[in-house]
Amino acid sequence: MGWWTDRVVPHLADRSLSSRPVMERRARAVDGLAGRVLEIGFGSGRNATLYPDAVVSVDAVEPSDVGWRMSGERRAASRVPITRAGLDGQRLEAEDAAYDAVLSTFTLCTIPDVTRALAEVRRVLRPGGSLHFLEHGLAPQAGVADWQRRLDPVQRLVAGGCNLSRDVPGLVTTTGFTMADLEASYLPGPGVGRPWTYLYAGRAVAPA
Ligand SMILES: C[S@@+](CC[C@H](N)C(=O)[O-])C[C@H]1O[C@@H](n2cnc3c(N)ncnc32)[C@H](O)[C@@H]1O
Repeated sequence: MGWWTDRVVPHLADRSLSSRPVMERRARAVDGLAGRVLEIGFGSGRNATLYPDAVVSVDAVEPSDVGWRMSGERRAASRVPITRAGLDGQRLEAEDAAYDAVLSTFTLCTIPDVTRALAEVRRVLRPGGSLHFLEHGLAPQAGVADWQRRLDPVQRLVAGGCNLSRDVPGLVTTTGFTMADLEASYLPGPGVGRPWTYLYAGRAVAPA
């Protein structure tokens, strides 16, 4: 990893992913979560105080000790017990069908083998359980998508392995999930930011 990724990127992510429009989308992404929940890429815990009352417990998977420490106050303020349950979304420690729901926000961009991580998410979800996601990804305009592919190598270097051009809904459905809800739109802001601001928000259901 290195000093920049270990020490700086968790703070940059915390700041850049907490604007009002992003927090409003986070609140919508957690809506409907219930029972035993797994959150992959827990980061600095920006969702920790947003979980609905129906959530019984949250298992958090997060490789960064800095991110985990940063989340301390938010975990303490959460009404839901949150346990660190692993370090890698590509190799989940849970048994098959252990969770009612999984939450991923701004994480599928960063996990190196995202296909493997989604297969793990499918494995640990009970049949009919839901993956709730809020992720940035591949823009629909060819010009923006071209810039995303051009910028990907630099983005990976400066942003802890983050990719701009991942086709999030495509990756989710290829893993065998059924898309139940999907919204996609740019965050408000100048056009030059578009490679970073196309957000997918959705809920996908694991096969029965
Ligand atoms: C951009 S941050 C988003 C953090 C948080 N989910 C949020 O919404 O603010 C990406 C997160 O993915 C985590 N991550 C990176 N590789 C991972 C992996 N293999 N498994 C699980 N999480 C990973 C990073 O440590 C970081 O916390």
